[in-house]
Amino acid sequence: MEEWDGVLFECFNGYFNSFKELAEDKKKNFDIKKGHSFRVADLSKMLALKLDLGSEEIRIAYFIGLFHDIGRFRQLIEFNTFNDAVSVDHAEYSVEIMKEEILGKVGVVKEDLVLTAIKNHNKFKLPENLSQQELQFSKLIRDADKLDILKVLTEYYSNRNSVTNHTLTWDLPKGVSVSKNVVKEIMAGKLVSKTNVVSEIDVKIMQMSWVYDLNFRPSFEYLLKNRFLETIYKTLPKNDIIIEIYRKVKMYVENKFMG
Ligand SMILES: [Fe+2]
Repeated sequence: MEEWDGVLFECFNGYFNSFKELAEDKKKNFDIKKGHSFRVADLSKMLALKLDLGSEEIRIAYFIGLFHDIGRFRQLIEFNTFNDAVSVDHAEYSVEIMKEEILGKVGVVKEDLVLTAIKNHNKFKLPENLSQQELQFSKLIRDADKLDILKVLTEYYSNRNSVTNHTLTWDLPKGVSVSKNVVKEIMAGKLVSKTNVVSEIDVKIMQMSWVYDLNFRPSFEYLLKNRFLETIYKTLPKNDIIIEIYRKVKMYVENKFMG
């Protein structure tokens, strides 16, 4: 382990452990977000390596990955939810925490670049005024974040015995078919917008549509290797529309991978 990694772990854990005497449910959610943060950091590093980035860039990618959701902890304490729509934009919160608690402790890194990527990690669309480098690291964290969420989701879907996890299914009714607007979006090769999602089936289709927001060949490679699409598809009822959606999305990913 590099010295720099040690500094980052200490910094993350120091901040994480500053929240004391949490109730059982909060503790559980804290641990989930901590696990996510460390896995996203690893995925970011993996992608950076596969993209042949230099050693400083690999470190920056790892750094962004580890801290992209650092605002989640304060969000949960202050608002008792991870739902941004009813509380705060957690990426903006992460930027604040970085400025207040983290950047001063980790030594020289490209601060503006790190903050821009963190801020952009959860936006529906990336802003248009980004520099080449800002764009690259914003895309990288978005890919790493989605890949980990897909990993967690598909593990959840394939384990029938798991306890219902409402943060993953959003507490929506199961549904019997895909909503019209959701079909329209995904068949047009677009990300499904949350506002059109009204059932568990729609949620799963929306998760499939994330492939349209992946940016790098190694991300498509990871997605294929881990069979994320197949796993989601397996949990869906098989009707013509769903079969057609699956084919389209699968084809898109394979083409991206083949380049
Ligand atoms: Fe996030």
